[in-house]
Amino acid sequence: QPARATTASRYVFDELAWGNDATHHIAEGYDADVLLRWGDPITADAPEFDVMNQTAAAQLQQFGYNNDYVGFTPLDGNPDRGLLCVNHEYTNEEVMFPGLGRQDSAEFAGMTPELIDIEMAAHGGTVVEIARNANGKWELVRDSQYNRRITPLNTKMTFSGPAAGHARMQTNADPEGMTVMGTVNNCAGGMTPWGTYLMAEENFHGYFWTDKLDADGNPDVSAHPEAAKLERYGVPGRWYAWGKVHDHWNLDLEPQEPNRWGWIVEVDPRNPDAMPIKHTALGRFRHEGAETCVSEDGKLVIYSGDDNRFDYQYKYVSNGTVTGNETFGSSLMSDGTLYVARFDEDGTVTWLPLVHGEGPLTAENGFASQADLMIDTRLAADALGATPMDRPEDAQPRGDGTAYIMLTNNTRRKADQVDAANPRAESSFGHIIEIKEDGGLHSATKGTWSILVKCGDPAVTEVGAQWNPETSESGWFGSPDNAAIDADGRLWISTDQGSSWGKTGKSDGLYALETEGEARGTSRLFFRCPVGGELCGPYFTDAMDTLFLAVQHPGTDGTKDLVGFERDSTFEDPATRWPDFDPAMPPRPAVLVVTKQGGGKIAT
Ligand code: FEO
Ligand code: CA
Ligand code: CA
Ligand code: CA
Repeated sequence: QPARATTASRYVFDELAWGNDATHHIAEGYDADVLLRWGDPITADAPEFDVMNQTAAAQLQQFGYNNDYVGFTPLDGNPDRGLLCVNHEYTNEEVMFPGLGRQDSAEFAGMTPELIDIEMAAHGGTVVEIARNANGKWELVRDSQYNRRITPLNTKMTFSGPAAGHARMQTNADPEGMTVMGTVNNCAGGMTPWGTYLMAEENFHGYFWTDKLDADGNPDVSAHPEAAKLERYGVPGRWYAWGKVHDHWNLDLEPQEPNRWGWIVEVDPRNPDAMPIKHTALGRFRHEGAETCVSEDGKLVIYSGDDNRFDYQYKYVSNGTVTGNETFGSSLMSDGTLYVARFDEDGTVTWLPLVHGEGPLTAENGFASQADLMIDTRLAADALGATPMDRPEDAQPRGDGTAYIMLTNNTRRKADQVDAANPRAESSFGHIIEIKEDGGLHSATKGTWSILVKCGDPAVTEVGAQWNPETSESGWFGSPDNAAIDADGRLWISTDQGSSWGKTGKSDGLYALETEGEARGTSRLFFRCPVGGELCGPYFTDAMDTLFLAVQHPGTDGTKDLVGFERDSTFEDPATRWPDFDPAMPPRPAVLVVTKQGGGKIAT
């Protein structure tokens, strides 16, 4: 008698055993090969990585830090050749620069202008051409004309939509309110139906500097003309010292600069000369991602969560329809309606439009125009009565009116703040909501919702987890973050437990999560990270014979404090030196390529 029932699974692979150690692991019969690591040269004339003598100039031609979103678009319809698009969310200077930590002092005394520029050059994104070699393995095409870095140090961008050029977007450096230097904290993202790359600007607030501190040493914005709005967005976070060197990151010098961050950026991976566009019609918040789909009625729909405790789930619906002739900068990205979700106890979800003049969104309530609604999206959503969620991370539409919303955790929700859609107080492990839009249309303004799983260990009653009982000890997870749906419509979840992985003991990983029939709610482990790394990506090619995964910040989350660790082997080691395991090299974020040994579709 088997220990567990054997309902037919839609995913064919032998489940990996859970664990947590210095390296990565993949289910048997698969390879997970390193494709790109922090510092790898990505252009023909880029210098080789010299970790102890890094420069900003070198970093601008090398793969960036903390790879998060990964997207892929084939070139010329050839499935063996294409452009890989990768976000670089943030930097861990305690790993990049020996002896330095973010908290080395309130004034960031150790951060020289050159180190700051290296940090900036390691942020943003990368576009590179990759191709399959004779052995069927993907490799970088280093001399490709498409290869480039996108950074907050030197990549100029423009704006589209209601807020472009608005008075509140204007600064001393940009009186037109139409040009901004780069993008930052690009967490997840998306690819448009026309093959361009969307980068979500998430924790942009952390980058703003002020010299004004209160008696407790916290940023004091009370003298700012829009102090309440800044506070709603958490600006300035003062996480980085960039504002000491670059005026636009200094709120004291450029009080309107924050309005130019927190947007969705579109990049044309096929044209390195095309200036990326921040599309203001998609709203301004801590965008986790921007996963797109074409609704059955032809409209472009983009789901995007605001990853903050008690913030909201959004979606954008274009006015026009996708014809197949769209190109970079399509008006479908600027002419449309942004909605925010209200999840009712009776299982309905209502999408509330952010349209100027409708409901409470009027001049009398402080919203003078559509531009104001887009700049002050969080305040508009507050006024509409949206449902405060447990940190909306990735939101993945399937194209058939179904979408999956990752609610990663929220330990600050009190017992008297729980509701049907956020049912646990002090949630350490998060949950996943499934939305079924009315009529199977992603563009619908109403739908129904249900909880697919409540995460955490099902063997611990107090956790209050909800899984299909067929889920094994290896299969349950905590803190869903990114999600993918493969070409067969199957859901895959990657996790980010942060420094709280000690609560599960498990490393972060990739899980196959059943959504249909008897097996619904059953999860199985396919891949796991080295210790202290979070798993980003995941991205399947259309042929499903390749899966891209991004291991972010290996060796850091929840491990011992790395501040002051040395790269010399005579000093104390960090928790792992993945993926090089070279005593002269720190742990490095890296993108992996998963393929089936002998080829073929993954998990079939
Ligand atoms: Fe950057 Fe919400 O994870
Ligand atoms: Ca992250
Ligand atoms: Ca994330
Ligand atoms: Ca996360």
